Amino acid sequence: MLLLAPMAGYTDSAFRQVIKKVAPSTICVTELISADGIKFGGKRTMEYLTFDESERPLIVQLFGKKPEFFSVAAQTVESLGADGIDINMGCPARKVIHSLHGSALLTKPCLAEEIARTTVESTKLPVSIKMRVGFKDYDEDHFIKLIQSFEKAGIKALTIHGRTTKQGFLGTADWDPIYLAKKHLSIPVIGNGDITSAQIAKTRLKDLDGIMIGRATFGNPWIMAEIEAALKGKKYTRPKSLEEKIPLILEHARLAIETSGRKGLLEMRKHLATYVKGFEHASAFRGRLVRVESLEEIQEIFKEIEVALERSE
Ligand SMILES: Cc1cc2nc3c(=O)[nH]c(=O)nc-3n(C[C@H](O)[C@H](O)[C@H](O)COP(=O)(O)O)c2cc1C
Repeated sequence: MLLLAPMAGYTDSAFRQVIKKVAPSTICVTELISADGIKFGGKRTMEYLTFDESERPLIVQLFGKKPEFFSVAAQTVESLGADGIDINMGCPARKVIHSLHGSALLTKPCLAEEIARTTVESTKLPVSIKMRVGFKDYDEDHFIKLIQSFEKAGIKALTIHGRTTKQGFLGTADWDPIYLAKKHLSIPVIGNGDITSAQIAKTRLKDLDGIMIGRATFGNPWIMAEIEAALKGKKYTRPKSLEEKIPLILEHARLAIETSGRKGLLEMRKHLATYVKGFEHASAFRGRLVRVESLEEIQEIFKEIEVALERSE
């Protein structure tokens, strides 16, 4: 099983559609979406719940701390036709954990279990959890008890990022607790953290049920096709030159603007900067791409990039 990690500000519908184009077997997860926001029908929150049929199976990731809001949110997500629900117990962002959301739930095992159970009981959709290995530190006993309580609550799969909250994104992900979790659970276990190549993906998978890829897809959605092929014992040759990549980059930009208007354009600026690197004048083009105002402008700049690339050959 190959999954695209939920990443706020990046894995919107447009990027998920791009990933599905290059690696169709990928399971995509939305960015974290507030259960409270869904309960109160917040306009912006509801926009995060829109998706395209091509993204299926699509998992909606919820964050919050009130079991009753998760219940309402789960029913709403089900009625909107998503294929699964994931509960965020991994986000380390200060403003998220200060309100006891995200990975702060790891410090409240009873509440975390109640949220898991209530969500499971509120929907027919499969419910999973994405978590870190611990909050301040990794404590094996606490970790095993917690994940077993999730399984007992009816969770259908567990994704584990091999870092503590305290680590943020520093250091390297420790996969030992993930393999240990697999030994203690009968539900599928998905490993996450620092996979940057098809080779590493194959090595990491071992007896796990799946792997989830995050940051390595920035500027390189083709890595999902490489990993997808490698897991099937096949080889995928990704486009090597920027010229070859341009059609998909422009398709990404078109989708971003078509699905999310100005918000999509603003999000796309970050992606554009990650695609354009490794040639003379790349930084000058990046400087322009992070300020673009329309699809036409993006297309124009890429025409100039093509000319610049031809000249440098
Ligand atoms: C910009 C960014 C936003 C993220 N947003 C979320 C999120 O909304 N929900 C979540 O569970 N994890 C989120 N994460 C964590 C990733 O899903 C993943 O666990 C982490 O990046 C480690 O995987 P990687 O080494 O493959 O990137 C985010 C990470 C990044 C870099």
